[in-house]
Amino acid sequence: MQKAASINTRLLKIAFQWGRGPVMSSKLLTRAIFGVDPTLRRNKARDKFFWDITTLNLKKALLIHVRDGQRVLEIGSGEYGILTVFLAKKRKIDLTAVEIVPSFVDTCREIAENNRVNVRIIESNMFENVQGSFDVIFWNLPYVPTDFGAGFYKSKGGSPTFGPEGWHGGPTGFEPFDLFLKEAPKALNDNGKLIAGLNTYFTPKSRILEMIQGRGLFLNSVCGSAFNPSKAFVITKRP
Ligand SMILES: C[S@@+](CC[C@H](N)C(=O)[O-])C[C@H]1O[C@@H](n2cnc3c(N)ncnc32)[C@H](O)[C@@H]1O
Repeated sequence: MQKAASINTRLLKIAFQWGRGPVMSSKLLTRAIFGVDPTLRRNKARDKFFWDITTLNLKKALLIHVRDGQRVLEIGSGEYGILTVFLAKKRKIDLTAVEIVPSFVDTCREIAENNRVNVRIIESNMFENVQGSFDVIFWNLPYVPTDFGAGFYKSKGGSPTFGPEGWHGGPTGFEPFDLFLKEAPKALNDNGKLIAGLNTYFTPKSRILEMIQGRGLFLNSVCGSAFNPSKAFVITKRP
């Protein structure tokens, strides 16, 4: 049983390492899927990947749950701000994006400008520099458990995006999600929605549901597709 799990982990690492490149670092595909041009004036990006498999299902969920006129917040816009720019093009909303990595804030602002969208992009540790309340708050969370990612990045000679400001989700992968469930409801309107992007390979669905319940929140729906272990969990304050 343990052997099968370790073979699975190894296969996943290989897919992670080699499978993503041609797809997720393609400008052509990024334009086709998200309608966003991710080109930066100078080559100042740390990461060559414009998006990941969770970004895909968050895109779907945003189209279903965000309506014109709403106040919306993205946590962790990433280096390219793909979801924020995509959403700003699709909906007439008051949109704010926060990101903890200062250089990502700069690159996101540049991409928003290049794509001619009007969004507020702020450097912030989650809600620290954010005011007011929102109708929708979404986050493609860091969920990769530290050990999995540390091994992967170590084998590639380390990565600047690894660390507290990066993508990893602590020892279990659940730490940022736990914080999100604790803090986000305070900034959410009573009828608002939280949309959390998680990969159920790393963060099993049963535990996700327990944690939602444990915070007195409700699962509204799950947005996903059959072959993608990443899902967008739509969470509300009321049943
Ligand atoms: C998985 S990436 C998502 C990137 C992008 N939104 C996407 O969907 O492709 C998670 C992002 O959250 C950011 N992040 C991590 N902790 C954060 C925090 N406490 N406050 C704000 N952003 C954070 C990371 O720097 C990273 O850019």
